[in-house]
Amino acid sequence: MNTYEIASIPGDGIGKEVVPEAIRVLNALAEAHGGIGFTFKEFPWSCEYYLEHGQMMPDDGLKTLRNFESVFLGAVGNPNIVADHISLWGLLINIRRGFEQVLNIRPAKKFNGIKSKLADAENFDLIVVRENSEGEYSEVGGRIYNGPDQIAIQNAIFSRKGIERAMKEAFKLAGARRQLVTSATKSNGIFHSMPFWDEVFRDMSAEYPDIQTEEQHIDALAAFFVTNPQRFDVIVASNLFGDILTDIGAAIMGSVGIAPAANINMNGKYPSMFEPVHGSAPDIVGKETANPIGQIWTAKMMLDHFGETEAATVLMHAIETVIEEGIVTPDIGGNSKTGEVTDHIIDKLQKV
Ligand code: NAI
Ligand code: MG
Repeated sequence: MNTYEIASIPGDGIGKEVVPEAIRVLNALAEAHGGIGFTFKEFPWSCEYYLEHGQMMPDDGLKTLRNFESVFLGAVGNPNIVADHISLWGLLINIRRGFEQVLNIRPAKKFNGIKSKLADAENFDLIVVRENSEGEYSEVGGRIYNGPDQIAIQNAIFSRKGIERAMKEAFKLAGARRQLVTSATKSNGIFHSMPFWDEVFRDMSAEYPDIQTEEQHIDALAAFFVTNPQRFDVIVASNLFGDILTDIGAAIMGSVGIAPAANINMNGKYPSMFEPVHGSAPDIVGKETANPIGQIWTAKMMLDHFGETEAATVLMHAIETVIEEGIVTPDIGGNSKTGEVTDHIIDKLQKV
């Protein structure tokens, strides 16, 4: 029996509504399948915690989390009581950086039963591997002068190590899928970093002769995500390019409420963290309309990460079936409540 100890951080807003639903699903999966088990320890770190303690998590928070197999997070943010940059950096980014979660992995696919916002969305099924630790999101740079002479300089950081580990993961994923890796570049416009990115991509491609590769400039690639997403398998992108592409990925699926994500630690020193793409959705809190599928699909990614491929596949199938049957929340065109969607997914798991 493989038992996994998981730290759960529901966070704020609908995070507190969807995390318990996903935990219900994981426990039901363990019961239906045997061979796996989960223990969850919940941490109340959130904006309310901040009001009480003056910080989003305790000083030794990372030390506490380090002992767990993984971190399962809902969403962070309640702009009515704590400014977003405080809550985000104090918890989420603190964990991502502290635990060296250098990759952000975000799949997107077409589901039968959801009307995509695309006029003519055929089947698509893609994964974006986003470099999560450097690139355009750096604190290096500064400002000088005032008034009309003001200047800001923002430096982007690209290391061979950082690029290689993202690309390696992309090739690994493609090997188990449709054998195609697309590199998001912009080496026609960005003079130093992107030609370097291309060079590393070509070096890496040579190590995977069985995988087909292509390089696409980010502007054209973003347009293809909208007009022709079915042509992609795995896309590897820098921090900024990946951030933008994955929001398009969520949009073409039909709702940010179903989009999952994983923050992966690759050196084995710290746990990885699993959290859906969506935020705390203050506008729908308490209405029981939060879509639990983003959080539940995120749990499926956690199972994949543990190597529990069979359980992960069973769970994905249950999600797809329930969507196809139209048991869905209003954001994707249904009128079911959060808990009903979960109940139906659990029902499918028990019937497998
Ligand atoms: P958001 O993702 O919370 O909401 C955007 C829109 O999508 C809203 O209309 C919301 O109702 C809807 N939505 C989101 N998740 C849904 C779900 N599961 N089911 C149904 N509808 C859903 O983004 P927003 O409004 O920009 O940010 C709200 C708060 O969340 C802010 O404090 C922000 O900083 C935080 N945030 C946190 C993130 C995280 O923890 N990873 C990511 C994005 C935002
Ligand atoms: Mg984003």
